Amino acid sequence: MQQFSTPAEIRAWTREQRKAGKTVGFVPTMGALHDGHRSLIAAACAECDEVVVSIFVNPTQFDNPEDLENYPNMLADDLGICTAAGVGAVFTPDRDKMYPNGYATFVDVVGNLTDKLCAVARPGHFRGVATVVTKLFNAVVPDVAFFGQKDLQQALVISRMVSDLDMGVEVRVCPTVREPDGLAMSSRNRRLSEEGREKALALPRGLEMANQAYAAGERDSNKLIEILAMELLVHTGVDLDYAQVVSLTGFEEVDEVKDSCVLAAAAFVDEVRLIDHIHLGGPALPVSLD
Ligand code: PAJ
Repeated sequence: MQQFSTPAEIRAWTREQRKAGKTVGFVPTMGALHDGHRSLIAAACAECDEVVVSIFVNPTQFDNPEDLENYPNMLADDLGICTAAGVGAVFTPDRDKMYPNGYATFVDVVGNLTDKLCAVARPGHFRGVATVVTKLFNAVVPDVAFFGQKDLQQALVISRMVSDLDMGVEVRVCPTVREPDGLAMSSRNRRLSEEGREKALALPRGLEMANQAYAAGERDSNKLIEILAMELLVHTGVDLDYAQVVSLTGFEEVDEVKDSCVLAAAAFVDEVRLIDHIHLGGPALPVSLD
């Protein structure tokens, strides 16, 4: 596996692959890789001849400097995981190479996709994500890029951007990988205490309780949100950031749930921000409701 730290180097590598008639898949990450990332790498390896993984903790998408500083750095482990998974090249740029002095260009997706949920809770977050993903696409020049459904809003924002700006990259969105008890895997889970890890389960449990109420006929968004909020409320130390029901067609808030709606939520545990969502009427989450 090769490691590159400048856009020019990774671009030259991709160009060589393409000249040899190979397709290039790309998995952008911020490192601290877990099985969720690994599933994206596996999907990329299955579909493409060569796979590039980027590892870059992107400062422009962090609205909170402490969150940026506390973001786990496990580069040696990450490189081992990428090698074992059959990745051809990793791109690990320095911050000052990505954002040199005088940097002034940003990509902003506007409208329904960025006026709610994480966009409200984290001002400027999706502008930072759209900007860095554009820069990474320009450096790697992939045929196909892989994103996780866990960050649903992010995946939708990127799909919109790729389509609006004619980027010519195929976007694949892969299912959320969970711990056996239901907690969605996240690099941030490492920052949870043992007690916090236990409390964090209230999030998938509350989502699944709302899903069951939906299956039993409940269609009032506020009632479903209340079921989730109550489950979080009974656990001291779990603070709800937001909970909303949105339609996937149009990404609008709905009062009455119809087909293709998700209940999405974010909560703080041990000051760690966790996000998750459930497709109402979709498959159950593997949580215990006893
Ligand atoms: P990061 O949080 O490292 O996630 C990298 C990719 O892994 C994203 O597409 C994310 O949705 C996916 N992922 C994370 N947890 C997952 C899980 N449990 N199951 C399936 N996929 C999962 O998302 C980012 O980095 C950044 O915003 C980035 C796109 C790299 C831009 O900086």
